Amino acid sequence: MKDLTPAKSDLDPIEIASIDEIRALQLNRLKWSLRHAYDNVAMYRERFDAAGVHPDDVNDLSDLAKFPFTYKNDLRDHYPFGMFAVPDEKIIRVHASSGTTGKPTVVGYTKHDIDVWADLVARSLRASGVRAGDLVHCAYGYGLFTGGLGAHYGIERLGARVVPMGGGQTEKQITLIEDFKPKAIMVTPSYMLNILEAYRAAGLDPRATSLQVGIFGAEPWTNSMREEIEQTFDMHAVDIYGLSEVMGPGVANECVETKDGLHLWEDHFYPEIIDTETGEVLPDGSEGELVFTSLTKEGMPMIRYRTRDLTRLLPGTARSMRRIEKITGRSDDMIILRGVNVFPTQIEEQVMATTGLAPYYQIELVKEGRMDAMHVHVEVLPGATTEAERANAASTLNKRIKDIVGVSTKITVGDPGTVERSQGKARRVVDNR
Ligand code: DLL
Repeated sequence: MKDLTPAKSDLDPIEIASIDEIRALQLNRLKWSLRHAYDNVAMYRERFDAAGVHPDDVNDLSDLAKFPFTYKNDLRDHYPFGMFAVPDEKIIRVHASSGTTGKPTVVGYTKHDIDVWADLVARSLRASGVRAGDLVHCAYGYGLFTGGLGAHYGIERLGARVVPMGGGQTEKQITLIEDFKPKAIMVTPSYMLNILEAYRAAGLDPRATSLQVGIFGAEPWTNSMREEIEQTFDMHAVDIYGLSEVMGPGVANECVETKDGLHLWEDHFYPEIIDTETGEVLPDGSEGELVFTSLTKEGMPMIRYRTRDLTRLLPGTARSMRRIEKITGRSDDMIILRGVNVFPTQIEEQVMATTGLAPYYQIELVKEGRMDAMHVHVEVLPGATTEAERANAASTLNKRIKDIVGVSTKITVGDPGTVERSQGKARRVVDNR
């Protein structure tokens, strides 16, 4: 793999500013953001008043902890535009996330918000090793989902060239990658594995592609998955994080030279880690739920938004701003099996570590009598299809999950192609209880 480390001189000065400088900027911006929310969004005004807090009371970043949280349901309750903080004509874009139940959650952006977003995705791409002039294949979905358009504007902002492929049509993805020879691809990690399979089916060598780096996000994925992708494609795999309520892709991104967690672009978002149960702010380094306060958003300011994503805040390394550890999972994706908490990423690690298995898996929850049970559906690698090989892989995986994760599961090792394939965000858990 090529060294893609960006030159220091190419970075935004704030990326390598001192912590003091960053904190001072955040405090100023936080005061503005709280004031903007209070003055322009009825929900925030009512909540702040009810909690007895006022934007003028903020003298230190830690004062933020006195303000009330905002939840995904608040967006639903104020559907569609009730949380916008500017007159309708100032909003130039809306996105929405479907969710599985009820109304979608709608977010709105001013011209300035779209500009900041493009800047931050450009910064994320640079951190990933992409340069002006490089060709980038964008396979995140376009439309209401923030992935495609968010990535697209950032690629253009960097001065790179974008192929706006979008999701799906896997064979066409391959034709375009083979013919256009992009340097980078932006796609969900699970869909990248779909592309991998199609590469092999077409008799092509994935290690021979022009791709030097993949910028993967929109769903949890493990370091084991990173290794799998890096080895099979001979390319760098870096993590990009974001959520529509806070902006979209590009809230945080890994640096290609360190790949040690995602630097949060703290000049625009203030992070806290809280105890999910009590709501108490935890010190850096503790695992808990990530909470964001937007510092510059005009269209839809977000104050203490509960992401439900579980991670830790770590000090900066390649950049001054803090990092988040790779997301373990969402608190709503946590499976409680006979008293043990399990995240799909923990199962993923064990699947990846088991020889003879392909990197596809799905967890099924079922009732066995009055107890919940977990079935893990996996596949043998193409070619390895003897009964003995299957049985061996199944018992190895079973034992690994029992020993390391601490739960008993039933493993089904199917033929290649039997596990549901992802077209974007993978469906890791099917609940048949
Ligand atoms: O998934 C935005 C995005 C698009 C991020 C493309 C990265 C790349 P939503 O659809 O609103 O937005 O979903 C946000 O997806 O709260 C996390 O649970 C999960 N997520 C996003 N990125 C990552 C990641 C986009 N890198 C939700 N690792 C978030 C783990 C991620 N989970």
